[in-house]
Amino acid sequence: MNLKDLYIDFFVRHGHKQIPSAPVVPENDPSVLFNTAGMQPLIPYLMGQPHPYGTRLCDYQKCIRTNDLEEVGDTTHHTFFEMLGNWSLGDYFKQESIEWSYQFLTNDLKIPASRLAVTVFAGNDIIPFDTESYEKWLSLGIPESRIAKTVEDNFWIAGESGPCGPDTEIFYFRSDEEIPETFDPEDNRWVEIWNNVFMQYHKDVNGVVTELPNKNVDTGMGVERTTAILEGVKDNYESSIWKDVINLISEISNVPYDGEYKRSMRIIADHMRTAVFISADPSGIKPSNTDQGYILRRLIRRAIRHAKNLNIDINSDWENRIATLLLDKYKTYYKELDDNYQIVLEVLKKEKEKFNKTLEKGLREFEKAVRNKDAIDDITAFHLYDTYGFPIELTIELANERGISVDEEGFEKKFKEHQELSRTASAGKFKGGLAGDGEIETKYHTATHLLNAALKEVVGPDVHQKGSNITSERMRFDFSCDHKLTEEEKSRTEELVNKWIEEGLEVHVEEMKKEEALSSGAECMFIEKYPDIVTVYTIGDNISKELCGGPHVQNTKELGHFKIKKEEASSAGVRRIKAILE
Ligand code: ALA
Repeated sequence: MNLKDLYIDFFVRHGHKQIPSAPVVPENDPSVLFNTAGMQPLIPYLMGQPHPYGTRLCDYQKCIRTNDLEEVGDTTHHTFFEMLGNWSLGDYFKQESIEWSYQFLTNDLKIPASRLAVTVFAGNDIIPFDTESYEKWLSLGIPESRIAKTVEDNFWIAGESGPCGPDTEIFYFRSDEEIPETFDPEDNRWVEIWNNVFMQYHKDVNGVVTELPNKNVDTGMGVERTTAILEGVKDNYESSIWKDVINLISEISNVPYDGEYKRSMRIIADHMRTAVFISADPSGIKPSNTDQGYILRRLIRRAIRHAKNLNIDINSDWENRIATLLLDKYKTYYKELDDNYQIVLEVLKKEKEKFNKTLEKGLREFEKAVRNKDAIDDITAFHLYDTYGFPIELTIELANERGISVDEEGFEKKFKEHQELSRTASAGKFKGGLAGDGEIETKYHTATHLLNAALKEVVGPDVHQKGSNITSERMRFDFSCDHKLTEEEKSRTEELVNKWIEEGLEVHVEEMKKEEALSSGAECMFIEKYPDIVTVYTIGDNISKELCGGPHVQNTKELGHFKIKKEEASSAGVRRIKAILE
């Protein structure tokens, strides 16, 4: 039996009902793009709603965490993983939870107790030291020297708000060296394998903590990491979870899983698996430029770039072979992989073909960029990366062949800046808990374009955008105009925006040359800020056409109702509108 089966078997024996894994895209929680923990789909029940399966639940849940996407390639990071979980909804609490974890690890998985250590919550101003957990571990025979008391890492919450509480984490000594007598959680030879959260509280969006009606237990154990430990491998990708996938990539590329090839192989294996699970999800996600679709696109394209690194013939059926292996491997556990088998293969193939075309365009762009030049500057190198998915290594290789240099340092700088930006953006998106703002901000972006267009129609074609600012609460829009708007102008503008919203206009996105975009009448604020190839968003039948980085909604009907709250002077010749969507 593998880890998943052993785990479910154990908890079912202890009175738990197995619940099916929820889809990777949360069904009722727009604040996160993907489920990041087993507890996420259970939030309503952890907050007090009765669960149809009762008060003791267990499962394995598909989880996706893409905040660390760039880290994938080492031995431990994955964008997709399976989390084992068992829950008590107002049923058992610390005693049973800790006891069962210990039994499962030492009896069922046969992990020697001497390789285990734990952390418990040390207490702070609000929540006291977790004496119960501490005593329980002692009673099970874990020596004092192997129990660390910490504050920082022993309070669990998914993001900023939601159900939360103190936890106790179980660590395994993953090294051939002698096991130190005293456990130091900072010593990375000790790896966390299980987290038991004692959910007693709820923290609301204002930070107010209240006691939950029921005391719950929420636990999480990562399948990939624990499997690697049980199989005694130090590199997760050498465990039975990945070995066949890596072997297949090795066979296709005709290179061994060794040295410099390892990173690309791991990235391909990881990203392909996540892409398979996203595209098989009942939510029907397809590669796109927004939200989950954008993550899917990035994963597939990154896998392709690394396949190129390994000299895999991109036009062959390599992606089909890898995906088929993954689908067959997981379909007995996740029925949706069987149901959507062909869809997954098609999504991957189509996106591959699309990206191949972009790469060809990129090559032409490269040729143009180097004509009559003896160096490639940072802007061009980054543009090739960002718009055409050219890894810097590819740009350098091509440049070398022509005896010209590349501003690698400048590229790295731009790359870091960009990473910072996307980190900040994705941190916003992935903020867990119950409140989120990515979606509403996207709506305001689109509303900004509509407002700009409406003002041009109502006030006159000389209106131009001078600035904008968006929060999850409202939008602010500055525009050139020589007078205070009359009541009539304001209400006509409002009506026009709402008319467009109600018409349900499609928002269309395309990439084109800057000159082309301008001559087609696309609006933009600072033309010199844009690269040679720009993204243009068009709403409806040319109601609005603007150069913009997005993101935007797909259809204006998603915006709800638009309302101007205030119109005031901003500076000489510039007026400011504050508006909301409700
Ligand atoms: N929800 C807890 C975690 O993700 C168990 O670690």
